[in-house]
Amino acid sequence: MTLPRIVIERCHYLARCSEETGAITRPFASEAMRCAQEVAGDWMREAGMAVRSDNVGNLRGRFEGAGETTLLLGSHLDSVRNAGKYDGPLGVAVAIAAVQRLHDAARRLPFAIEVLAFADEEGLRFGSTYLGSRAVAGTFDLADLDRIDADGVTMRDAIRAFGGDPERIEDDRWSGEPPLGYCEVHIEQGPVLEARNLAVGVVSAIAGQERHRITFTGEAAHAGTTPMDKRRDALVAASVFVQAVEGYAGSSDGLVATVGQLEVRPGAANVVPGEVTLSLDVRHADDALRLMASRRLLDVAAEIAKRRGVGLKTNQISEDATVPCSRRLVSSLSQAVRDLGHPVVELASGAGHDAAAMSTLTEVGMLFVRCKGGVSHNPAESVTTEDVAVAIDVLSQFLELVAQE
Ligand code: GLV
Ligand code: MN
Ligand code: MN
Repeated sequence: MTLPRIVIERCHYLARCSEETGAITRPFASEAMRCAQEVAGDWMREAGMAVRSDNVGNLRGRFEGAGETTLLLGSHLDSVRNAGKYDGPLGVAVAIAAVQRLHDAARRLPFAIEVLAFADEEGLRFGSTYLGSRAVAGTFDLADLDRIDADGVTMRDAIRAFGGDPERIEDDRWSGEPPLGYCEVHIEQGPVLEARNLAVGVVSAIAGQERHRITFTGEAAHAGTTPMDKRRDALVAASVFVQAVEGYAGSSDGLVATVGQLEVRPGAANVVPGEVTLSLDVRHADDALRLMASRRLLDVAAEIAKRRGVGLKTNQISEDATVPCSRRLVSSLSQAVRDLGHPVVELASGAGHDAAAMSTLTEVGMLFVRCKGGVSHNPAESVTTEDVAVAIDVLSQFLELVAQE
């Protein structure tokens, strides 16, 4: 089987590691993640890497080089609920493939390569994103250990049950010689490359994002006996807010805002909803405009709550500024694309990536791979073997260019 085909097959294989049958759901520190790491660890060893797990639960494969320095490659192995096969795993599998090539050719570069298969990028289980890459970058917030998942399990206990040591997450921080950089291959998750008929594109920047949890508290009441004008329905307040979010973001250039989760309590057909908690995700490539927008949306939530006589609690879960990719790595990736005879296009990422968290540690670069219809966070995610072949070639050529620096 060819290397690009192996990469595709591996992404398909990882799809079997899931918490749900018939769908891909692979949260942080879950048995599904253990399954994914076991096979990915075998692939890393096959490619000549020494493999270890760190305290937060990342899988790390190291391919020694002739010198002391290290170039970091990677992406994440966790997923959203009912995910596609490629968001995350493609970047891990392509990185392993590039190392496999070096190993097969008995080639040593002047630097070591460490492939980082991050344990949490999506934040599905605990709401907070980039747990794995933040630990490596040294920006993991220890207060996050007290977060609880939907079953009431703390992150501290989840990490311990997975085999890590929550008291030693600071040890996961990169130490020793500063890395040469971090490069991540990822599906585009958008329509640009397909529209331009390009297999790959070089990422210029990763748009900033923030997440909030917002709770409207009304009063649970009997659905049959409580007159309509006597209700304090938390779900109706939340619904008005959801519409306001769509309307506001829709009329602001470059702004995207999403309510993706809604918990209705007590959640019965014959009870007026007493409490609703929802998620709010706000993104813009311009940090100042994103901040202005999120402030406005939280004000809107307060106005709705006041008007409808319900309580409001807001809690910011995360904030990540827009991260420009390193011009040095953008230039090497662009050169690699050009060397392989493809046109070079730079594009910004609206999606978040581990590279954003890694940027506080080292210079970051990203290569996007075209995906069908620009569809992602959906089981219909699809890439072609031909495009994956281009991505492996570009990453291999990128390694050669870095070696020549
Ligand atoms: C990650 O996929 C994100 O952008 O939310
Ligand atoms: Mn994702
Ligand atoms: Mn991703």
